[in-house]
This record gives sequence, C-alpha cells and structure tokens, in this order.
Amino acid sequence: MNKNEAMLDQMVADYSLVTNGYSGKAPSNPYPMFAEMRGKCPVMHGDLLIQNNIPSMADYMMSGRPVVTLLRYKDIHQVLMNPADWQSYIVGDGFGAAVDNMLLTAMDGEEHDKFRATLQKPFMRSEIRKLIDTLIRPVVVEEFIAKLRPAGKADLLREFALPFPIRAMYAYFGFPHDEDLLGNLASWAIQVVAAPQTDPEVAKITIPQSMVAGQSMYDTLLPIVQAYRARGEMRADILGYMMQVEHEGKRFTDAEIAAFIRMLLLAAGETTTRSFANMMVQLLENPDVLDEVRQDRKLIPKAVMETMRRDPTAGAVARVAARDMEVGGQVIPKGTAVLLSIASANRDPETYEDPDRLWLKRPMRPLLSFGFGPHMCMGMHMALAEIEVALDAMLDLPNLRFDPAYPHPQIRGLNMRGPDAIHVLWDA
Ligand code: HEM
Repeated sequence: MNKNEAMLDQMVADYSLVTNGYSGKAPSNPYPMFAEMRGKCPVMHGDLLIQNNIPSMADYMMSGRPVVTLLRYKDIHQVLMNPADWQSYIVGDGFGAAVDNMLLTAMDGEEHDKFRATLQKPFMRSEIRKLIDTLIRPVVVEEFIAKLRPAGKADLLREFALPFPIRAMYAYFGFPHDEDLLGNLASWAIQVVAAPQTDPEVAKITIPQSMVAGQSMYDTLLPIVQAYRARGEMRADILGYMMQVEHEGKRFTDAEIAAFIRMLLLAAGETTTRSFANMMVQLLENPDVLDEVRQDRKLIPKAVMETMRRDPTAGAVARVAARDMEVGGQVIPKGTAVLLSIASANRDPETYEDPDRLWLKRPMRPLLSFGFGPHMCMGMHMALAEIEVALDAMLDLPNLRFDPAYPHPQIRGLNMRGPDAIHVLWDA
C-alpha cells in the first residue's frame, strides 16, 4: 500500500470514529423526531444529545449541569444574537485542556471581540474570493478531479471530500506541502475533538490521548512557524498575516501563533468534508435539483446553502445562561446550559415553508448552519468557496450518479453528521 492510500485509510478511520461517537442511538434520519419534539415541547428540559448517548457541548464533562434543549428557529436565533446573557465558555470544557484553552469559540465578551477583530481579516469574503483561482480551483481540479476522472467511478468521500479541504486549507495556512505532515495534523486534530465521550471507560482512553495529540500538534507547528519567520518572506497567507498583525499593541510570538493555528485546525478539519458530502448525497437523491444546477451554474451558491440548511453537519451548539433568562415563556435559571438544535431549527416550518423539500429558490433566511451572531464561523467563506468550487467540478462529471453496486449512503449523527461513503459512477 502506498503512503497516500495509508493516509486515506487513516482519515476514513478517524472520520468514522467521529461519526460513530456523534450517532449514539439516534435514528439516522432524526428529522421526524425533531418535528414531533418541536410541536410538543420546543423548550425541552434535558439534553437531546446525552439522551441519545452522544457527547454534548452543553455538558461535555457530564458534570450534571442542568441542560435545556431548544428546537425552534426563533428561540435559537435569539440566544445566538445575545452573547452577553448566553455565554460560550462551556464549549471549552471537553477538550480545552488539550489546547491550553486557546479556543476562540469558548471565549466570551471583550476577550472574544478583540481576538476575533485581530484575526478576522484573512478569513473575510473578499480575501477568500481571491483564492478561488489561485489555490482552491487548482487543488480541486488538478490535484484531485483530473486524476479521478478517467476511472469513471470513485468513493467521493475517501478519494475527494476527506483530503481536498485539508490540502487547500493547509496551503492557505502557509504550511509546507508534505503528506505526512498533513495526515498527522489532521489525525491529531480529530483525536483532540474526540476527547469527550459519554462512556466513562472510553473517556479514560480518549482524554489522555487528546492531551498527547494537542501537545504533538503544538510541537509540530512551532518549528513550522519558526522556519517561516526565519525565511523572512511574508506571504499572503495566514502565517504571514499572523506574524505582522498587532494584538493589543503587540505582535504575536511564535508560541502564540502555533497555539492559535492549532485551534484553527480543530475547527477547520472535517466540517467542510461533511458539508460537501451531505450536499452531494442530497443532490444525487434529487436528480431534478442536480439538473437544475447543472443547467444554471449560477445556482451553485444556492445549492450549497440550501443543502447546508436541509442537512447541516453542525447539528447543535451550546450556550450557558449568565443570569436568569426566559425562552419561549419558560424560565431558564442562571447556570443552565442550552443545547441549540440547529438541525431542528433548519426545518422549522414557522421559518421555512415546506422545510423538508430541497428547494433552491426558497426565500432565504439567515442560515444557522455556521452558527450566528458574534461567534458565527470565522472560516465560513473559506468553507463556502471550497464547497462551491468542488460542486462546480462535480457538475463537469457527465451523468454523475450513485453506484448501484454499493449500499445507498446514509447521512447519520445528531452532530458532525455525514455519510460513511459516497460511491458514484460517471461517464468517463
Ligand atoms: C462547512 C464547514 C464548516 C461548518 C459547518 C462550521 C461550523 C461552525 C459553527 C456552527 C460555528 C459556531 C460555534 C458556536 O457558535 O458555538 C463555528 C465557529 C468557528 N469556525 Fe467553523 N465551520 C466550518 C468551517 C470552518 C473552517 C474551514 C474554519 C477555519 C478556517 C473554521 C473556523 C471556525 C472558528 C475559528 C470558529 C469560532 C468563531 C468564534 O467563536 O468567533 N470553521 N463553525
């Protein structure tokens, strides 16, 4: 087996571990369950994830913190827009220790606002759009699709969706192109994220493993940062930006940059893979919609957003009440966590007409699949650009269809949703 195959096998194994962890005993299609719960009890006492044996960011350490699950779009939107009363620090409970608590997503208040303002620029839409022709399309088309094309068949998950976002994102970080390095960092990032587990016996293994993985990431990143600085050429990438920007009147040290990049690697890993994969399964299951996009490629951004609405990978996020609060007429005491079911909100009929339908021309509402408000995903424009370019490349594969020799892919999980494989055929 060559090195590339071994790396792909490792990625698939890590990916499946995450999917299994976030699937628990939930049905692979949770939407009928959400519809019923939203109707009966949209502000539900208890934690929907824990109830399904899935680690929950509302209480990663299973401390017994009181948790309420919110299922309606309007309630979730309201919580996300009010970071003063609904704080994020609990998100760092599970794996913050493995990354020295350097997690933007778990920061609150002024600390969050200042960091975010300092770091935002290379992730802005205008910056990312410049990368489409210089970086993203060459990676997608030349490094992946051109090589897959003659075979007329592929497992899109293993051969494309898992490796391409890492390859593009790591190039934008400014890392050297080295497959072992990419494979190791991607694997460690997953081990850090996989630390929280509902089974205490499993957690006894995953928590120490996440500490080692976090340290390995740092030990690998620091010399990369140091070598980059030593070369003295500041390129238009994230490392180049981090070396020049000032935060509270000071430049970042190499150690701070390594810790920051490590945090980004956790967030930038598989989310793009899974969103692309969920989009492809939905489009292949709805050939009329796939044809609609094929005939009018201006619809690509809509197809990406609509498939991310209808089946988001980030199924839930969490906050904690900083004071006694009220949601949907119910009192939520200070210190209670709220688990926000984005997957349920995205199919709320009060917000989306005919919510189960994949409908590209539906009136858009603010999309919650990247979160919303001040913590809204910082990598959103990178992820969108990657998925749009990838879909464009898919549309160039004539007569793309599921391969009937394999079982129909099932998107599963209540969080980090995704299919295990996407076997397809096209006319080579
Ligand atoms: C389709 C792919 C992606 C999805 C679905 C996604 C989803 C999310 C969600 C739901 C949040 C909000 C968490 C919360 O409010 O508690 C978030 C935050 C974040 N994401 Fe993403 N993400 C994606 C890709 C990326 C990429 C590629 C990067 C990095 C380059 C990234 C970096 C971040 C960071 C740094 C935050 C924290 C922002 C803050 O707290 O201010 N994400 N993401």
